[in-house]
Amino acid sequence: MIMAGVNSCPRLMVVSDLDLTMVDHYDSENHSLLRFNALWEANYRHNSLLVFSTGRSPAIYKQLRKEKPLLSPDITVMSVGTEIAYGESMVPDNDWVEFLNQNWDRNMVIEETRKFPELIPQSETEQRPHKVSFYIEKDKAGEVIKALSESLEKNGLDFKIIYSGGIALDVLPHGAGKGQALAYLLKRLKTEGKVPDNTLACGDSGNDAELFSVPEVYGVMVSNAQEELLQWYAENAKNNPNIIHATERCAAGIIQAIGHFSLGPNTSPRDVPHFSECKPDNVNPGHEIVKFYLFYERWRCAEVEDTDPCMENLKVDYHPAGVFVHPSGVERSLHDCINAMRSCYGDKQGRKFQVWVDRVSPVQMSSDTWIVKFDKWELSGDERHCCITTVVLSSKGADASDGFTWRHMHQTWLEGWGGKDHSNWLF
Ligand code: GLC
Ligand code: MG
Repeated sequence: MIMAGVNSCPRLMVVSDLDLTMVDHYDSENHSLLRFNALWEANYRHNSLLVFSTGRSPAIYKQLRKEKPLLSPDITVMSVGTEIAYGESMVPDNDWVEFLNQNWDRNMVIEETRKFPELIPQSETEQRPHKVSFYIEKDKAGEVIKALSESLEKNGLDFKIIYSGGIALDVLPHGAGKGQALAYLLKRLKTEGKVPDNTLACGDSGNDAELFSVPEVYGVMVSNAQEELLQWYAENAKNNPNIIHATERCAAGIIQAIGHFSLGPNTSPRDVPHFSECKPDNVNPGHEIVKFYLFYERWRCAEVEDTDPCMENLKVDYHPAGVFVHPSGVERSLHDCINAMRSCYGDKQGRKFQVWVDRVSPVQMSSDTWIVKFDKWELSGDERHCCITTVVLSSKGADASDGFTWRHMHQTWLEGWGGKDHSNWLF
């Protein structure tokens, strides 16, 4: 089953490339990525699907996840659409492997490519069962691709050659690639009765072009898209109104496309300076969690105006009998924790301090009560920590439109804390 937690059709499926699409390597603060994360967890996580589709092998994909504040996708497509994995534990799709094995002779590909000294093999990690990868200069690429295609054809091989980023050349089975992998996923979702209402493909380079050719898919080429993708667009998709070239870079371009195609909410909570301005249609447990941790980040960075009324307002949302169970096992009342926050106002001012939440999953327990489980990440200087957090929320009124009361909170260290820092009492 592709989507364990969701029983109906996903509202939106975002299928995004990573390097220079979801991740902006020129933005050391990861500003637009964090904006996307907040939007996704507040408005989409509970009823939508996030798919990463990257050229990276599993090894260097995992590396990127350590370096950047990437969310956990529901599905991971790696090695240019040749490896598909599901969920946090990344269960591989063996049917896809079997399909790609048909008429694929990796050794033959290696033998033929050896005849081209212009092709410089990529690192061992990037050579995969259904992907043989090289570097080649832009000016030599066209000629080599033509000659290599001819010799592979002569040998009766079913293959595909993809050129990306003006430097990388991948040889894959004919049925592989990011587009084919997406078409396969949509077919699988259909058999499970879970076709997404909308699908948005996002990319910046040559290996993403296929994503935009999948029928009934919206597409965004981020503003910083590579020449080879823009050229593909000019030759193949110029008149397709469902594909745009964003004016914004990377993840900001993805948010822009969600707005352009009216696919759902497109205001990231990070772009809302005061939460009293939030529209009521945004009220859901995920939004409540995102909103709180943004406040917490802003509070510690001294970015909150009117601190006294804010604290009083916050306290109203916390049940007087509510308890916070600290990862060390010690319990404290929620009101004591809120009071303790006062003395931490601005303690991270001028330093790198970012907080984001991942995998926010609310379960409704009764008409007015939710248990919300999520991973809370904190980046402080160069150190990154994660706490698995569980919160019990209840709605203030008959439904959630009047907001929530926090009743209970429990955290467990996942990574990084190691129990060293008991002075950190704050959520
Ligand atoms: C990623 C992969 C590389 C591939 C390139 C283009 O950078 O690591 O092997 O050639 O994407 O698809
Ligand atoms: Mg890319």
